[in-house]
Amino acid sequence: MLLVHEVCHVIGCAKNTAIHSARWDCNIYYAFERIYLLTQPNCRRLFEKQMHILITGAAGFIGADLALKLLSQGHSVVGIDNFNDYYDISLKRARIAQVQEHPQADQFSIVEIDIVNRPAMAALFSDNRFDVVVNLAAQAGVRYSLENPESYIDSNLVGFGNILEGCRHSKVPHLVYASSSSVYGANKNFPFQENDRVDNPVSLYAATKKANELMAHSYVDLYGMQCTGLRFFTVYGPWGRPDMAPFRFASRMLKGEPIPVYNNGNMIRDFTYIDDITEGVKLVVESDAQQGQYSVLNIGRGEKVQLMDFIDALSRHLGVEAIIDMKPMQDGDVPRTMADTTQLQTKYGYSPSISVDEGVAKFAGWYNEYYG
Ligand SMILES: NC(=O)c1ccc[n+]([C@@H]2O[C@H](COP(=O)([O-])OP(=O)(O)OC[C@H]3O[C@@H](n4cnc5c(N)ncnc54)[C@H](O)[C@@H]3O)[C@@H](O)[C@H]2O)c1
Repeated sequence: MLLVHEVCHVIGCAKNTAIHSARWDCNIYYAFERIYLLTQPNCRRLFEKQMHILITGAAGFIGADLALKLLSQGHSVVGIDNFNDYYDISLKRARIAQVQEHPQADQFSIVEIDIVNRPAMAALFSDNRFDVVVNLAAQAGVRYSLENPESYIDSNLVGFGNILEGCRHSKVPHLVYASSSSVYGANKNFPFQENDRVDNPVSLYAATKKANELMAHSYVDLYGMQCTGLRFFTVYGPWGRPDMAPFRFASRMLKGEPIPVYNNGNMIRDFTYIDDITEGVKLVVESDAQQGQYSVLNIGRGEKVQLMDFIDALSRHLGVEAIIDMKPMQDGDVPRTMADTTQLQTKYGYSPSISVDEGVAKFAGWYNEYYG
């Protein structure tokens, strides 16, 4: 940053000299003026790599926050989403409305497309030249995969196949896609590392995410694409997902209803604040594309949090008592998760900064304001 300011200052001085000196002809003056303007804050992004980015699942929790972040960085973003009713559609619409209020919203468009729709996806890729594709569209949720396996097969496998084909045919330099901590299943090695074996998924959801990693690997190998899979660890925060524990707990606590706590509360999660997640995704998106590179990286806070401590923090910040209803472990669920994020730190300078207490305070504040 300091260097940019110094360059601005030197060029600014040179411009003033140019105006007042008879030795400079008009062409040189205009050349300096152009350079000077480019160094001003609102034009500076032209010096940096400005990218055209596709975000699938843009109306989702992570997608909408990522869109805001990438717009702030001066990139143009096309968002797609099928606005399905897995949870409250009005929350998805409200997230998009928020993105449309961003000062750079003229660089954002949202299109209602299902990634399963092959012709529509092929048309999207042939009409655009994306520098990076971030695939976040998926059927999320571990427990729902026991109820509605078809939607996982469709969105997470068929849909992901369409993303890979689109990237391949339109030669997208970098595909970044959402994998999940759930690929680690009930692994005993702790914290989870990327080179741990992940061949024992305990839910169909986890199996589809592992399948995505394998599918991506084959495309890197066959077509020299760059694919980066990010294994997200329990993301929470404002605009979060109503099917996830923090949201369900907050809703019930505020109504004075008991909250079901599985495995008798004996759960560890690596709760990761939304802004730390999208900051990490941004670092990966903005990195220089490297043809033929396949990687899978953990993205979490890297701290083990007892579920009961998380509930205490939520109850404190919402200002209500939590009534606990202890339950046994659920099928498909895992007792503990925690990320080793050394690789993401070393390769991309990832450094999560929001403590659980701070993040829960922000979430509770948002929840009260949005639903209060
Ligand atoms: N939030 C987490 O803690 C977490 C953890 C691990 C992995 N992930 C993964 O990260 C990604 C984003 O998660 P999220 O929490 O934002 O979920 P989300 O459900 O809020 O967002 C997903 C979005 O994708 C859209 N979508 C689903 N199927 C689609 C389809 N076939 N075509 C087009 N759009 C479709 C949905 O309407 C939704 O808006 C998902 O792939 C999820 O599996 C999330």
